[in-house]
Amino acid sequence: MPTGESRDWRDPRFVAHYNALYALAAEAARPYLARLALKPEDRLVDFGCGDGSFLALAAPLVGEAVGVDGSPRQIELARLRLEGFPNAKLVRSGFLEFAPRGRTFTKAFSRKALHHLTDPDKEAFLRKSTDWLSPGALFLIEDGMFDFERRDLEENMPRVMEQARAHFGAAWEAKAGDFLHSLREEFPTGQDFWARALAAAGFRVLERWQKTCFLGGLLALREGR
Ligand SMILES: C[S@@+](CC[C@H](N)C(=O)[O-])C[C@H]1O[C@@H](n2cnc3c(N)ncnc32)[C@H](O)[C@@H]1O
Repeated sequence: MPTGESRDWRDPRFVAHYNALYALAAEAARPYLARLALKPEDRLVDFGCGDGSFLALAAPLVGEAVGVDGSPRQIELARLRLEGFPNAKLVRSGFLEFAPRGRTFTKAFSRKALHHLTDPDKEAFLRKSTDWLSPGALFLIEDGMFDFERRDLEENMPRVMEQARAHFGAAWEAKAGDFLHSLREEFPTGQDFWARALAAAGFRVLERWQKTCFLGGLLALREGR
């Protein structure tokens, strides 16, 4: 994205820029599907579903698939992509405002989206999530997630930049602006922070992974009855 242009998800040009550069390949989605162990009786919700790429792969495996996104353009694109899936539904909503009115889910997924929330808002979102996640539900989150605490970002910058170049490879030039914007202006945070926030909200962390020092994920189980 050339300097000075919008990085606002309400802007269809930014949405087109993101979706073209960061399309989710079916192959890359396979580990998420495996970890979530989706079954026909599952009700799945995807936060920051974007253009619906993940939901299109997951919908045939579950009873119900719901995508939540705040961007009108992303919801429009997801609706087109999911036209052939009668069990898929899309909701235009902010993450914190999501209120499915008594409906509950057995599986939740969010990729590269919750870093748009500040750390206190991540905590608030997870606390609220227990209203609509059934006990025993799984939540898979993969995002900008550091193997250090966010407050130590500056001292880790040389390592982050080195790993980012290697991770993005030939696409680094095209993605560097977005990457730096996300690091500086959005709220990627430490994986330990996520683990603490999940535990405080009533989840048990089952698995943690770091793909690089800045990109990681967790699989958590909502405890309780
Ligand atoms: C980086 S994209 C990720 C899309 C997709 N999950 C993927 O893996 O490619 C982030 C998505 O989150 C949505 N989003 C960002 N902040 C949001 C918020 N506070 N509430 C709802 N949606 C939000 C954006 O509209 C966008 O579609």
